[in-house]
Amino acid sequence: MKIAFFDTKDYDIPAFKKYGQENKIEFRFFETRLTAETASLARGCYGVCVFVNDTLNAEVIDILKELGVKIIALRCAGYNNVDVKYAYDKIHIVRVPAYSPYAVAEHAAALLLTSVRRVHKAYNRTREFNFSLSGLTGFDLHGKTMGVVGTGKIGRIFIDICKGFGMNIIAYDKFPAENSGINYVSLPELFRESDIISFHCPLTEETFHLINSESVKTLKRGVILINTSRGAIIDSAALIEGIKGRRIGAACLDVYEEESDIFFNDFSGHIVDDDTLARLISLPNVIVTSHQAFLTSEALENIAETTVNNLLEFKKDGFSQNELCYRCGNVETCIRNRKEKCF
Ligand code: NAI
Repeated sequence: MKIAFFDTKDYDIPAFKKYGQENKIEFRFFETRLTAETASLARGCYGVCVFVNDTLNAEVIDILKELGVKIIALRCAGYNNVDVKYAYDKIHIVRVPAYSPYAVAEHAAALLLTSVRRVHKAYNRTREFNFSLSGLTGFDLHGKTMGVVGTGKIGRIFIDICKGFGMNIIAYDKFPAENSGINYVSLPELFRESDIISFHCPLTEETFHLINSESVKTLKRGVILINTSRGAIIDSAALIEGIKGRRIGAACLDVYEEESDIFFNDFSGHIVDDDTLARLISLPNVIVTSHQAFLTSEALENIAETTVNNLLEFKKDGFSQNELCYRCGNVETCIRNRKEKCF
C-alpha cells in the first residue's frame, strides 16, 4: 500500500516509517502541502496522509478521486480543513480522534503558567544576567474562576489540571456531558464570570469568531484567553483591540486564524507580511506558540499507530471506526453506529 504523505516534518518520519515498515505500508514523504497544484504527487497511491493545513476542498477531492485515491488519512483530530460533505460518496476520510489529549491540555496549562508568572520575561532577563523582579508580579491561580469552552477529551483533562490548582471551574458546551459533575453555565455567563477562558471546542460555523468585537465587551476586565483549539475561534483584530483597551489582560495562543502559511516554518531570516501576527507577538502580554500543543513523543507514536491501523482496517473491511462520513450528517459517529460501509 502506497500512501502520499503531505506537509512532512522531520519529527513525523520516524514513527510513520516504523509502523509503515511493520505493516508493509510505503509512505512517500513530501514536504509540500496538499493543494490542487500538488495533488498529482498522489498518482499511483492508495491514499494520502494529511495534516491540519493541507487543503481538502472540492477541487482537491475531485483530483484525488480522478487519480484513483481511495482514502484521505488525517493525522490529526480536527477536520475543519476538509469538505466532508463534498467527499461523501467520492472518497473516504479517516482521522485520529485522540492521540494525546494530555499533550494539548498540558500545553494549555504551560502557556497559562508562563503568562501568569511571567516566565517568558524572566527567562530572557536571567539569560542577560538581569535579576531584577520589577514587572514580574503574577497572581495566584488558586481561587480564580476558569471558564472552559468545550468539555470533550481535552477540555476535561484541562479541567482536572485546573482543579489541582484549586480553581473554581465553570464550563460551556453545546452538548453538556451528563453526570460529569461539571458546572455548566451559559456562554454569556462564562464570558462574564471567568478570570481565564480556555477554548477546547472544535472550529465550526457556530464557534467561528466566538471572541469578536461584540463579545469582547462582555468579558471580565483583565481576562486571560487561552486558545489551543483553532485560530479562527478568536477574531485577531478584536483580540488586539481588546488588549489595547485593557479588557483582555493576556492571551496565550497556540493557534492563529491565518497560521496556515506561517506556522511550522522558520521565518527567522525573513520579514513576515502578516501585520496582525506581528502586532500580537509585539505585545508583552501575548504568548504565541506555533500549533505545538500536540507535539509530544507519546502523541507522535499514537498518531502514526492509529493512522496505520485506520488504513489497514479500511483496506480489509472497506470502512474504519475512525471514518468521517456525511451520509446521515452525524459525521463522527455515523459509521461507528452503522458498523458497515456508508458508500
Ligand atoms: P472532543 O470532540 O473530544 O471535544 C470537543 C467538545 O466541544 C465536545 O464536548 C463538543 O460537544 C464541544 N462542542 C462542539 N460544538 C461546540 C460549540 N458550538 N460550543 C461549545 N462546545 C462545543 O475534541 P478534543 O479532542 O477535546 O479536541 C478539541 C479541539 O482541540 C479540536 O477540535 C481541535 O480543534 C483542537 N486540537 C488542537 C490541537 C493542537 O495541537 N493545538 C491538537 C488536537 C486538537
